[in-house]
Amino acid sequence: MNHRIAVLPGDGIGPEETAAAVRVLSAALPSCVFTEAAVGGAAIAAHGTPLPDETLAVARESAAILFGAVGGNGFEHLTPDKRPEAAILGLRKVFGLYANVRPSFAYPGLESRSPLRAELVRGMDLVIVRELTGGLYFGPKSLEPEDGVLTARDGLVYRDFEIERIARFAFDLARTRRKHVTSVDKSNVLISSQLWRRIVTDVARDFPDVTLTHMLVDNAAMQLVRDPRAFDVVVTENMFGDILSDEAAMITGTIGTAPSASLGAAPSIRAFGLYEPISGTAPDIAGRGIANPSAAILSAALLARFSLGEPDAADRIERAVAGALAEGPRTPDLDGDAGVSTQAFTDAVLARLTPIAVA
Ligand code: IPM
Ligand code: MG
Repeated sequence: MNHRIAVLPGDGIGPEETAAAVRVLSAALPSCVFTEAAVGGAAIAAHGTPLPDETLAVARESAAILFGAVGGNGFEHLTPDKRPEAAILGLRKVFGLYANVRPSFAYPGLESRSPLRAELVRGMDLVIVRELTGGLYFGPKSLEPEDGVLTARDGLVYRDFEIERIARFAFDLARTRRKHVTSVDKSNVLISSQLWRRIVTDVARDFPDVTLTHMLVDNAAMQLVRDPRAFDVVVTENMFGDILSDEAAMITGTIGTAPSASLGAAPSIRAFGLYEPISGTAPDIAGRGIANPSAAILSAALLARFSLGEPDAADRIERAVAGALAEGPRTPDLDGDAGVSTQAFTDAVLARLTPIAVA
């Protein structure tokens, strides 16, 4: 049976990265069939809107979305709902992708790239489970005069079921790992965080084999740089997760190897999902063929695991990327002047892809 995949390259380095990921995924799983569609700034240019109906239709007919990045200059005059970023927020909302899985893994050989001392980073292996369809991103917004004063509001809203399902997702995921969940909130100030903490504590009762720690978000930002290896699964509100996942990625030595999966069902269920590097468009290097495609290729591995039910292909892709990163050659972000092109690095990954196991 063929696996239908929607490819949404988007802007900046998105097209280069997704092209590399498509090459590796089709080599690992020849049954994948890819359909490309426009998104973000590229879609605004071609269709006048960041998330055209045709793109949504392609996504609806697919098992998963392989997504590049959206954003860029020249859209600052547009309101948030018309900007390239509205496409990714719209896809998350339309498909109910409430759980964003962001692994931060210290690849052997890259520890010296970390802003932290290598010995603090070696062995770091954590996953941030970011709530993705609620919180500050999707609360009521307004910009209007109040009592003669121009006032902007972004509301932070959580409903009990939204907290419960993301907590369950995190505990389920922890059962496949080291069985430790850190729930990050700001319950000393925010009432939404108080509800968050209460519900996460309730959910934990159904997972007696998993250890739960609560942590305030400012302390979590500090503990991440003090001892990143102490974390296994971190579950947190949308905005906190956006910020902490960039921090965690950088600690591994580069944001260029950080993939993500956005899902709407428990991690054990084979379901539709959206897969993207967490890094964004990197406009400074876009179009030069030197972007590090690791994050996109690793996102394709997550796609194989979570949406296609192909864990063997996922493992093979992840091993091939780890091997290529350890032995080089690497792209310039990791290797300076000696760095090779996106394509040459992808070739190195393909060369390490072990053949499909025959049962
Ligand atoms: C991310 C990005 C997006 C977000 C932007 C592009 C809207 O930063 O996926 O982390 O804030 O969610
Ligand atoms: Mg972000």
